[in-house]
Amino acid sequence: MVDPRWEKLTEAAADLRRLLDETPEVAITLGSGLSKAFGVPDGGRIIPAEEIPHTPRPTVAGHAGEFWAGRIGETPVLVQRGRAHFYEGHPLDEIVFVTRLFAVLGVKTLIVTNASGAVNPDFRAGDLVIITDHINMLGANPLHGPNLEHLGPRFPDMSAAYTPRLRQLAQEVATAEGIELKEGVYVAALGPSYETPAEIRSFRTMGADLVGMSTVPEVIAAAHAGMDVLGISIATNLAAGVDPDATLTHDEVIETTDRKGSEMRRLLMGIIAQI
Ligand code: HPA
Repeated sequence: MVDPRWEKLTEAAADLRRLLDETPEVAITLGSGLSKAFGVPDGGRIIPAEEIPHTPRPTVAGHAGEFWAGRIGETPVLVQRGRAHFYEGHPLDEIVFVTRLFAVLGVKTLIVTNASGAVNPDFRAGDLVIITDHINMLGANPLHGPNLEHLGPRFPDMSAAYTPRLRQLAQEVATAEGIELKEGVYVAALGPSYETPAEIRSFRTMGADLVGMSTVPEVIAAAHAGMDVLGISIATNLAAGVDPDATLTHDEVIETTDRKGSEMRRLLMGIIAQI
């Protein structure tokens, strides 16, 4: 019997392929508020998520739920504007559906972006950070259950899930563009409540620099499917307790994303041009 997850993926890929002029080389998953900041590049086309069967609809403000397909420079790119999160209640299979769809289409490189809280006390709100590695504290793994053999092996290696060559390229582009880029380990917490100061202290002890509620499922699915991955985060706020007098709000996350979004866009454009 064909795995129903594989059936859905091949159905969605067939529909999406009909709407694309060429196979995208790079896919970008844009996080909270970044869809707005990234905007829509010239040319290409918007594909509403409703046109692609089985694609989960994000519900959070700041997530558009659509794709943009076109060229950035010479590179065919597919942009996911708005992702689904585990805290919304979707099963992880659905969260990684679009990532797997990219793999089935033939995308080689996935760029994931997100907003995060700074766990590292040396980071500041507004820092752009290359993700070097992650810690999965979601309590679940998108590869749980029967393995999708068409995509990858049962026990995928995660030693270099965040492709070193792409991290290097990102740093080179940042230097050329005069953008300061930090590096750090991202820990995924389930949310949707922000973390407690005690949780943040424990995450720091574990070796985390950033905390967020996304990205890790997609990166696991991408690594499983053999894609190269680049992860870039905007540390939109100091994580809970890092500034003992501060409180955390979604508005602050959106505000910092808006403020730093154009820099993120410049960085992404520069990276894609050289990928
Ligand atoms: N915690 C979790 N997710 C986040 C945060 C945070 O502090 N900021 C932005 N996304």
